[in-house]
Amino acid sequence: MAIGPAAREQRVTPVFIRGKKGRQRITFVTAYDFPTAKLADEAGFDMVLVGDTLAEVVLGYETTLPVTFETMLHHTTAARRAIRRALLVADLPYGTYQVSEEHAVRFAVRFVKEGGAQAVKLEGGQKRVNLIRRMMDAEIPIMGHIGLTPQSVHRMGGYKVQGRLEVDIERLLQDAVALDKAGVFAMVLEGIPREVAKAISEEVSAPTLGIGAGPDCDGQVMVLNDLLGLTFKRPAKFVRQYFQGASDIGTALAQFRADIESGAYPTDAESYHLPGDLRLKLPDILKRVKGSETN
Ligand code: KIV
Repeated sequence: MAIGPAAREQRVTPVFIRGKKGRQRITFVTAYDFPTAKLADEAGFDMVLVGDTLAEVVLGYETTLPVTFETMLHHTTAARRAIRRALLVADLPYGTYQVSEEHAVRFAVRFVKEGGAQAVKLEGGQKRVNLIRRMMDAEIPIMGHIGLTPQSVHRMGGYKVQGRLEVDIERLLQDAVALDKAGVFAMVLEGIPREVAKAISEEVSAPTLGIGAGPDCDGQVMVLNDLLGLTFKRPAKFVRQYFQGASDIGTALAQFRADIESGAYPTDAESYHLPGDLRLKLPDILKRVKGSETN
């Protein structure tokens, strides 16, 4: 039987993502609203993450810490409306899973039930194993995230590459193995040396998704605004910019403003017109209105 367009457009699932390990690299990108999620989906990415980097790149906060669950949910629903094929992953923001496991499971359920997410991501290794098991008991596929975990910025003392000391390498490997045993369907490795990411990727059965972790991971993830040049900050070493968003969008806006000021916009062709008979009648209509005003 021939495979029709409907079959080719089947939604990506966690099982499909796991099946790519060792066969094909996994493609993953963040998106935060309808247009960016639609473009990422149509570009053929396997997964789209509504990441808590939303706090920084969309809302202008210094860190990811202030973004609330309600805001993340709001943006997840927008991405859901746009995505046809990619697996939609929602990121649990700071404070939703650090206090109580019961509350954390409720938040994760809401991402699936109200936001339309197909999977949920959270940061941390061994200390999250019980929580991950509880979420999986609630039928939620979980993605792990270890290494440079931005929600731990204060504990880490800044955004620093992790896993550079023997003791840290050991802990990272233990974290990765613990997540793998807990059953995560994939894990993000952020800001760690290439050699450590390679060792983890070879050790665990779950696919690894690198960001600042070198090319030996099973896939790569990038913050959309980084690759589009839309952060207004000096990019990190691992960021490759594919578009100069700030300068190209800035140039377009400046040109539009100049065209309004000079009268170059809009032209006659960019205007709506009355049909000929009404155009001829317009002076009479005006006269009538003016006459009724003076009576
Ligand atoms: O929130 C986010 O964008 C992320 C990626 C960096 C993986 O967690």
